[in-house]
Amino acid sequence: MRKKIVAGNWKMNLNYDEVTSLVDEILRLHSSDNNVEVILSPPFIYLDKVVRSCANHDHVFIASQNCSEYNNGAYTGEISASMLNSIGVNYIIIGHSERRSIFNESNENLNLKITQALQNNLKIIFCCGENIDQRESGEYLQVIKKQLEETILCLDQKSLSKIVIAYEPIWAIGTGKTASSVQAQEIHFFIRSLISDKFGTEISNNTSILYGGSCKPTNSKELFSQSDIDGGLIGGASLKSSDFTAIINSF
Ligand code: 13P
Repeated sequence: MRKKIVAGNWKMNLNYDEVTSLVDEILRLHSSDNNVEVILSPPFIYLDKVVRSCANHDHVFIASQNCSEYNNGAYTGEISASMLNSIGVNYIIIGHSERRSIFNESNENLNLKITQALQNNLKIIFCCGENIDQRESGEYLQVIKKQLEETILCLDQKSLSKIVIAYEPIWAIGTGKTASSVQAQEIHFFIRSLISDKFGTEISNNTSILYGGSCKPTNSKELFSQSDIDGGLIGGASLKSSDFTAIINSF
């Protein structure tokens, strides 16, 4: 059975004291009763601290927001997947639309990062999603198919089992405009069918597919009640402990 997951992507936010309070509050408010895997994704500089703070909390895992496409060596300013593994990080977010658009990451770059993550025993939250023009022109399914076919659908079965997929429509990220549960379910079902066509139903039924894009306590219950939506990748609302834990508890 696939996992229910709620992940908080803190992006480039919070100072050290704010991180300390946010983690303490999330751990205080979060109960592991509903069997949801919680993932916290702070900026690189706070990863070690957050890993240590969450060490005794079985249902809480840590993700970095990026990693280098290189192994190690003379790459000033980069952070390798092996370094992340060595401090106890569990996941890497790869393919976020902000990395694709602001930092020009191509599928080729993403594939190198996927290789680094897998070689270093890290799981991956792999993001995909269309922009507003692609949604309005009706080509969104083709866009998502291509994003996945050129990356994670090239992996073997064993590697695919290390991947959580996040569908994040770009027009819904940070805009307050959420995909409706019907719109999101359509894409999640489509993504699951693509996995099933390539790897079979057992693997596709075991792959968690998260929704991201203005997900908040007021819409998470409705979104998570859809049969192919297994949780969320939360941006803004993950910075407030009460909102984030309310989203976790909306399963
Ligand atoms: P928001 O929840 O702020 O829309 O961000 C979503 C996101 O990009 C998570 O990775």
